[in-house]
Formats: sequence, structure tokens, C-alpha cells
Amino acid sequence: MIAKRLLLLGPPGAGKGTQATRLAERYGIPQISTGDMLRAAVAAGTELGRRARALMERGELVPDDLVIGVAAARLAQDDAAEGFVLDGFPRTVAQAEALRSLLDRSGLQLERCVAMAVDEGAIVRRLLLRARVEGRKDDNEATIRERMRVYREQTAPLIAYYRTQGILAEVDGMGSVDEVARRIEEALKT
Ligand code: AP5
Ligand code: MG
Repeated sequence: MIAKRLLLLGPPGAGKGTQATRLAERYGIPQISTGDMLRAAVAAGTELGRRARALMERGELVPDDLVIGVAAARLAQDDAAEGFVLDGFPRTVAQAEALRSLLDRSGLQLERCVAMAVDEGAIVRRLLLRARVEGRKDDNEATIRERMRVYREQTAPLIAYYRTQGILAEVDGMGSVDEVARRIEEALKT
């Protein structure tokens, strides 16, 4: 059996989006990326986008209540009923608690948190390369450093949080995309 209610956790540039897309295709479950949803809101100029934009450009987190609302609405859609791969949410203990009570109301639980570890030099290299290809506003060196600082301070505590719950799998995120995908696949076996 393979766990299908998943969370990919890791610093910026760890490969969460890359691996979440592969898992979504492979298992026919939706990839739920709050970063992608927020960028779409910014591009569309919605109220949410208006509130998130400057924070995202600085590499700060968007307030919990806004992000929890976005994630809860997405998780409530039919295609997430049999599984999902969360990418970039939750990112604070408050978000993790909100997710837990949300799933609990449907008698469900997160089955695996895959924590991806990548060293800082590789993060900066990957994201500066992506800056040239995609032009994401937060992919410049100063903002990348701030995103890493925010990750260490506010998101890394979730590693211990999910370890305590007994669903943590720690995976080396260095190496090729295929190598990392194979390690994640192993980590999802139940
Ligand atoms: P978000 O969009 O989640 O960005 P992030 O966490 O900084 O991570 P990235 O998307 O940059 O990296 P990734 O781990 O997905 O790696 P990827 O696969 O792209 O969040 C952006 C902002 O939105 C936040 O700063 C915050 O403001 C806000 N936000 C979002 N969610 C929030 C929340 N829950 N609460 C509050 N605020 C929130 O890979 C990176 C690059 O490396 C790519 O070019 C890729 O092709 C390449 N790559 C991938 N794997 C490999 C590999 N194995 N080897 C070499 N290159 C690789
Ligand atoms: Mg991403």
C-alpha cells in the first residue's frame, strides 16, 4: 500500500513542486500548492492576491488565516477525496493544527509527511537558475535568503511536530529528480 494523503515539507527550492507534480500524475491525486494558488491570485488581482503580494515578494509568510482558507477550500473539492499531495502547506504549527482538525472532521488523517533536505548552496543555485527561466519575483538572492530564514524559524518545527505524530519520513533531496523521486516512493510505502 502507498500513502495517498501526503505532505511534502522542505525549504525553498527543495523540489517540493517538482516531486508533487510527479506524485500527482502517478497516483491520480491533486497537487495542492498554496504558493501556486497565491501566485494565481496575485496575477488575477483578487483581494487575496492584493493582500499576499508584498509579503510574497519579501519572502515572508502570508497570514495563517488567509492561507488556511485557501487550502481548506481546495481540500473540500471532490478530486481530493481519495488523496492529495500538499506542497508548501502547512508551513506553521498553527496551519498544521488547522489541517489536522479539518481532516479530523471528515474522519481522515494525513498519512505521511515527507521532509526533503537540501543544502543551502544547492538551494541558491537551483533558484537562481529558475529565476532566469521563469522569472519568479522572489527568486533573487536576498529574498531566497529571507525565505530560508523564515523556513528555519517558522516551518522547520513541523519536522518535530510530524515526527511526534509518527508520520514523518526524512528524504535526501540532493541528486537527480529521478533519484529523489525513487526515495520518496520508498518513503510512501505503508
Ligand atoms: P512557495 O511557492 O511554496 O515557494 P517555496 O516554498 O519557497 O518553494 P519553491 O516553490 O521555490 O521550491 P520547491 O520546493 O517547490 O522546489 P521546485 O520543485 O520548484 O511559496 C512562495 C511564497 O508564497 C512564500 O514565500 C509565502 O510568501 C507564500 N506562501 C505559500 N504557501 C504559504 C503558506 N502555507 N503559508 C504562508 N505563506 C505561504 O524546485 C526549485 C527549482 O529546482 C526548479 O527550477 C526545479 O526545476 C529545480 N529542481 C527540482 N528538483 C531538482 C533536483 N533534484 N536537482 C536539480 N534541480 C532541481
Ligand atoms: Mg514550489
